[in-house]
Amino acid sequence: MNVVVGITGGIAAYKAVNVVRGLVLAGHDVHVVATDAALRFVGRPTLEAISRNPVYSELYEGVAEVRHVAIGQAAELIVVAPATANTIAKLASGLADDLLGNTILASNAPLIIAPAMHTEMWQNPATVANVATLRSRGVRFVGPAIGQLTGSDSGPGRMAEPDEIVAAALTAVGRQDLVGRRILITAGGTREPLDPVRFIGNRSSGKQGVAIARAAAARGGEVTLIVANLDDGVLSGLSSTVSVQQVSTTRELQEAALLAAGTAELIVMAAAVADYRPETVAAGKIKKETQGDTLELRLVRNPDILHELTDSRHDGQVIVGFAAETEPDRDALLVLGAAKAARKGVDYLVVNRVGWNETFGSDDNTVIVLDATGRNVAEANGTKASIADRILDVVL
Ligand code: C5P
Repeated sequence: MNVVVGITGGIAAYKAVNVVRGLVLAGHDVHVVATDAALRFVGRPTLEAISRNPVYSELYEGVAEVRHVAIGQAAELIVVAPATANTIAKLASGLADDLLGNTILASNAPLIIAPAMHTEMWQNPATVANVATLRSRGVRFVGPAIGQLTGSDSGPGRMAEPDEIVAAALTAVGRQDLVGRRILITAGGTREPLDPVRFIGNRSSGKQGVAIARAAAARGGEVTLIVANLDDGVLSGLSSTVSVQQVSTTRELQEAALLAAGTAELIVMAAAVADYRPETVAAGKIKKETQGDTLELRLVRNPDILHELTDSRHDGQVIVGFAAETEPDRDALLVLGAAKAARKGVDYLVVNRVGWNETFGSDDNTVIVLDATGRNVAEANGTKASIADRILDVVL
């Protein structure tokens, strides 16, 4: 989705960087329109690097491409964060004396405003009236929160947290087709310790599972996300409405998943779960001095969590498994997938190819979704965010 983030001149502008980042991580094409005052608080290079697009602020640049209306016309969603009292007043009056004002006037997209100002300004009758005017036109406000302001004072006026702004913005445009649905998602890769410093693990980044959690939350779902060993940043910008539990080993994931599965209507097992673990875990570091030239590891089977979940599935519960395969031939991949869907007893199986240079850690993916009978019901290629929505569409 084409999202415009308008940034205006308040100190909370530094936090707008995380609003931009959250929207980018959610798979959106983000265009920042900053006022001159905003650029005194946060640098253009920062915003360009994070948004991955040029930042526009000048009304009299890009005139040949009629930029002052083009940005607003192309926008599918506009978020202003932070919005100062001055900007709110200008928007309420329909003023267009800068690029942001023009962009908003020239747009039919939903508009979300995250105010940030001192309490006196927020409570001033002029601001109260301006907010009421904008609300009456369908503009949505997120925050302000009550808390510490820039000086020593505190009260209403603090900008809402970036992840809350992102969630509110996506909710405003998103399909709300998962409202009240309880959804359990697992993501990441389990690690099985050998000794206090080493483990057997896998290369799953958890990005696809986290993208499904983001998408489900944006569509109104009540999401529990169990994550195993994610890198820093994979969860950044995730809505605070998602309940996140961290685990590491397969057995920890098993315990958490079986507990959360009790009330879940949809389960998506995107985690890469270790099939085997070392039979014994050494109490101290395994030393080559005592092992010599070879080291034999004896591994034992881990529980198949997905199988246990489908075995204890309750009425109406839908269970989705994943199959990451290295099989290069498409037909053979589908045969493997169909056999796995049947063996695991899932309602849907998301099949993707993995390899040395494929899928792991990437922001993109290519998947084939099979139903319980092994029938190909969807194929998708694109960002992990877009694939997340596609999987949810199929399940719905
Ligand atoms: O059998 P395979 O590992 O290919 O199956 C993958 C699917 O099964 C994934 O959905 C994964 O989360 C799940 N799985 C599991 N417990 C295991 C192994 C895999 O739940 N021990």
